[in-house]
Amino acid sequence: MNFASDNIVGASAPVLQAIVEANAGAMAAYGNDEISKRVRARFSELFEREVSVFFAATGTAANALALSSAVPPYGLCVCHREAHIIDDECGAPEFFMHGAKLVGLPGVGAKLKADEVAAYLSSLPKAVKQMPPKALSISQVSEGGLVYSPDELAALGQVCREHSMFFHMDGARFANALVALGCTPAEMTWKQGVDILSFGATKNGGLMAEAIVVFKPELSEALDYRSKRAGQIISKGRLIAAQFEGYFADDHWLANARHANRMAKLLSEGLLQLPGVRLAWPTEANEVFPILPQALNQRLKAAGVLYNSWTELSLPEGEQIAEDEALIRLVASWATQEEDVRRLLEIATSGVERQAAE
Ligand SMILES: Cc1ncc(COP(=O)(O)O)c(C=O)c1O
Repeated sequence: MNFASDNIVGASAPVLQAIVEANAGAMAAYGNDEISKRVRARFSELFEREVSVFFAATGTAANALALSSAVPPYGLCVCHREAHIIDDECGAPEFFMHGAKLVGLPGVGAKLKADEVAAYLSSLPKAVKQMPPKALSISQVSEGGLVYSPDELAALGQVCREHSMFFHMDGARFANALVALGCTPAEMTWKQGVDILSFGATKNGGLMAEAIVVFKPELSEALDYRSKRAGQIISKGRLIAAQFEGYFADDHWLANARHANRMAKLLSEGLLQLPGVRLAWPTEANEVFPILPQALNQRLKAAGVLYNSWTELSLPEGEQIAEDEALIRLVASWATQEEDVRRLLEIATSGVERQAAE
């Protein structure tokens, strides 16, 4: 039973099938093929407006390139202090921004609040010695598994406009957020002021399927050159693009995300039945952050359940992890078996029963 992340599983059958179908014959290289063109047009259809699309092999590349076009070398990019871009990308965004800095703000469940971002921005001295804020980057779903509502996104978008900043969304779990909200891709992005998006499909069934989707045309001006310099214009680009054909066909991507979210909900509800278990914050997409008695944590580990312990940095005010407790993260994916969720809950429950009998 592996709940360590949503990228511990392979690619889904429709995605693989689409790659196989795209494999035959000769086609133009470097994304100039018919499949890449079709997929770019599909993104415009999906977002209900003209968008520019740049494919990438990893989410890190998509984030770093997106930010490099939004932030000049002397600028600041504001994000959560647990954001993937600041914590998990080995400095790639700063490297590609050529000297620009990421600044991490606090927030429960790795989520930023518009008024807190605004207060931070107002506190910055307006002097030439101060790097000016040029972009805000949020993760939808957040690193704590929380989802920004359209209203919350609109409030952040407004702050960006007031401070002449670009608004970037790291959508590594875009589909999970979308189905959790039940809104359209447009309602979750540009309609709320998002200017540029890292659209992730790898975690939700892709093989290496990431795309930068640009809503503000000025941000796409040099992105093809930047992508090439970053080694992200892939010569057999049709095989990258084809993944998205399989992904979008028959709403496969939405079905995958709904399944993952449902598995997380099952896990979350089941764990909450156990004495001594509470959630650090609500389960809103495909990740669960329970606080468990250490005895239960050890029992799950001893039974071979795989997952990660989590940082206490973004707990709600007043919440504390006692010495005999642990904060962990369990992630469900498009491929998580309901059987595995039930098995984990059985192990957890039998552990509690045994403890009560002792
Ligand atoms: C929030 C977030 N952004 C981006 C990524 C993409 O990273 P990678 O470069 O591993 O594809 C991840 C993957 O863990 C993530 O969780």
